[in-house]
Amino acid sequence: MIKRIGVLTGGGDSPAINAAIRAILVRALSYGYEVFGIKNGWLGLVEGEGEVLKREAVSGILSEGGTILGTSRTNPFKIENGVEKVRENVKKFALDALITIGGDDTNGVLHRMHQYGLKGVGVPQTIDNDIAYSDYSIGFDSAVEIVTDCIDKLHTTASSHHRIMIVEVMGRDAGWLTLYGGIAGGADVILIPEVPFDYDEIVNVIEKRREMGKDFSIIAVAEGAKPAELEKQVVASTKVDSFGHVQLGGVGNFIAREIEKRTGYETRVTILGHLQRGGKPTAFDRILATRLGVAAVDLVYEGKFDCMVCMNKNTIISVPLEKALSEQKSMDMELYKLSKLFY
Ligand code: F6P
Repeated sequence: MIKRIGVLTGGGDSPAINAAIRAILVRALSYGYEVFGIKNGWLGLVEGEGEVLKREAVSGILSEGGTILGTSRTNPFKIENGVEKVRENVKKFALDALITIGGDDTNGVLHRMHQYGLKGVGVPQTIDNDIAYSDYSIGFDSAVEIVTDCIDKLHTTASSHHRIMIVEVMGRDAGWLTLYGGIAGGADVILIPEVPFDYDEIVNVIEKRREMGKDFSIIAVAEGAKPAELEKQVVASTKVDSFGHVQLGGVGNFIAREIEKRTGYETRVTILGHLQRGGKPTAFDRILATRLGVAAVDLVYEGKFDCMVCMNKNTIISVPLEKALSEQKSMDMELYKLSKLFY
């Protein structure tokens, strides 16, 4: 019998997480469940921090970015006695089930905890949009809006100064955000991690545009993209987080030096960074988060655990976490090819 559900948000934040928390609470109350908000992702279950959320806790948060619960990149499996502490706190807080909102790392911990008897449902959230089986993850659409808006703004200054502008977009191994933002913003070259790039091709595009009388160009590059000859991605720091990720950043400057050298044109770099994760969610994200949040509680009600709610062709489905986590979401190469039509 379910009486109380825990909810936590882990990994990199994004707009619309709050919309999901609100949906979870409202749906849970309709079943007569209590919702226990855990602070700062899995860290809150290791350290035992959280509280019961009342209806007022989610009033007015639908349109607010960030997460009222706080987040962290904590992996209990990498902390001494981390798993035991999580189990103790699940017991202490009397959690009958847990809903985790995050990417593969956060939901991956939930899946591993299943073998220790934790009943849970995952909700896909990341601006990277790289979660298998979900056409969209919470936060992606809002981040696309931000990237598009920034590229729109870069157009006016690029054309005034006749410059090449490089805009560096988040996305470690997935180019979704760069591809969508790049197409929507009309970038002249789009570079994604899935396709190693060639400087000659970029220079050709720039020169072709000059011949057409276009004396500026915009290059959208994902932080994880790299030229074919480079073995590794460009990193901002070699420090590794508890899920084994290094902090990427700097590929824009790397490319800028080479492009400027090859073309002789003045080149500038804008790293969008965490601006992409901030601010208000789009209407699409609010609706997606609301649907996924409600569906997650419905799964708890139905007793279906160790799975994730996903949006597939505008329908909300559930996929076993085992399956979702074992696959990489493949890039839409048709869309990538389409983007090249406009180079
Ligand atoms: O996982 C989402 C993401 O936004 C990546 O695109 C990016 O590399 C990373 O988070 C940056 O994370 P942090 O918050 O640790 O700087």
